[in-house]
Amino acid sequence: MLTQYERPVIQKLHSGLMNKFAGNTLLHRKVKTEIADVPIDDLVAQFGSPLFVYSEQTLRRKFRTIRNAFTTRYPDVTFGWSYKTNYLKAICAILHQEGAIAELVSKMEYDKAKALGIPGNQIILNGPHKPFAMLEAAVRDGVIINIDHLDEIEDLEAIATRLNRIISVGIRLNLDAGIQPCWSRFGFNLESGQAMNAIERIASGGKLRVNGVHSHIGTFIMEPAAYARQVKKMVAFGYEVEQKYGWRMDYIDIGGGFPSRSRLKGMYHAVEVMLPSIEEYADAICDALWASLKPEHTPKLIIESGRAIIDEAGTLITRVCGTKQLPDGTRAYVIDAGVNLLFTSFWYRFDIALGHPVSGRCEPSVIYGPLCMNIDVVDDRISLPPLSRGDRLVISTVGAYNNTQWLQFIEYRPNVVLVTQTGDVELIRAAEDLSDLERREHLPPRLAVVSVPNNPMIKL
Ligand SMILES: Cc1ncc(COP(=O)(O)O)c(C=O)c1O
Repeated sequence: MLTQYERPVIQKLHSGLMNKFAGNTLLHRKVKTEIADVPIDDLVAQFGSPLFVYSEQTLRRKFRTIRNAFTTRYPDVTFGWSYKTNYLKAICAILHQEGAIAELVSKMEYDKAKALGIPGNQIILNGPHKPFAMLEAAVRDGVIINIDHLDEIEDLEAIATRLNRIISVGIRLNLDAGIQPCWSRFGFNLESGQAMNAIERIASGGKLRVNGVHSHIGTFIMEPAAYARQVKKMVAFGYEVEQKYGWRMDYIDIGGGFPSRSRLKGMYHAVEVMLPSIEEYADAICDALWASLKPEHTPKLIIESGRAIIDEAGTLITRVCGTKQLPDGTRAYVIDAGVNLLFTSFWYRFDIALGHPVSGRCEPSVIYGPLCMNIDVVDDRISLPPLSRGDRLVISTVGAYNNTQWLQFIEYRPNVVLVTQTGDVELIRAAEDLSDLERREHLPPRLAVVSVPNNPMIKL
């Protein structure tokens, strides 16, 4: 029988001492045997590994918490579910059931919302690319449209001429809310006067009127005060427009950007310490509204939060498929899910738990994904006990942006399941196979018989 041998190395372990930021992580590692009360063993036995698992209860709870934070502070609040954050049909359907309308940024997302049966008056259309035909359909459907650039104004004017009516639109602003870098590529810049120039251009056309202001200051914003600054600037702009052109501001759409309870790379303290509560955001936003709105004027507050609602509801179960030792002695593990499934691994230090208790001293380790690509690193400095092939690692929080930005690259994408509120497990996206990948490919008939000619230069 073959026994595995690895050259021993001497490595300094810092166990026994508290470190400055994260406590002593070398002595233990979290174990997670269930997700939403369903044993991970059962999930894997039925649906394989890797496996994305969503908790419907967590998702609904999260949405309701955020909704309550705002609806208890302001009388007219609408949530637009940011499809790009997660457009799995089941996820969108749950959030629509909870009362969120659809926030869309492309023709593909528009098609998805329409296919789900969302009517036009429950859609917000943002984004820098709004093809003419979609824009026209959106106008006919009564969609809330936020203009991104001057060419869209021309398109909308052409549509207004065609329909022989004035079209109400919102204007997307980019502004300095004290968050660096300032996102300036979407919409019109406020401070430079570009946004007011756009309003003047709209007024001169005589075919559109502006009834809403939109801005999205960024993502994972850890400073509630930034939203207060944003809201005050937006309201002041809206009133300036009203004063000049008589257009009433019907809505203020503040975009998304609230952080999820996840740890960004470089964030050393626990998330509970680093991240403000949703109530602090709601206070900052609603206080700023009350302070800057005119008496008796309560325009609709639209919130397009994505990450903060869905991230914690998603977990990824993975499996160790190989163990290695790097030349410097560091332990390394190859798991069956990598950056192909976890786009957010470029920013997040995930919460990684063991699928079952593993004995042995924790050592600094690296977790690689399955791709034959050097960038495929899930965690490059985690302390783990000695793992073996077949051991499971349970990765959270992964509900935001991963199931939309995942790559069909090198590997198939796996099953995605939803644990219902009653503990049932439903498949919400089936694992891919070759037919999914090749369905759109065409092999010209002349190439249909594939053969590799014998090459006399190659000696096998
Ligand atoms: C216009 C708009 N609204 C909402 C969102 C959702 O942002 P988050 O997931 O950070 O809440 C985004 C994300 O980029 C966005 O561009």
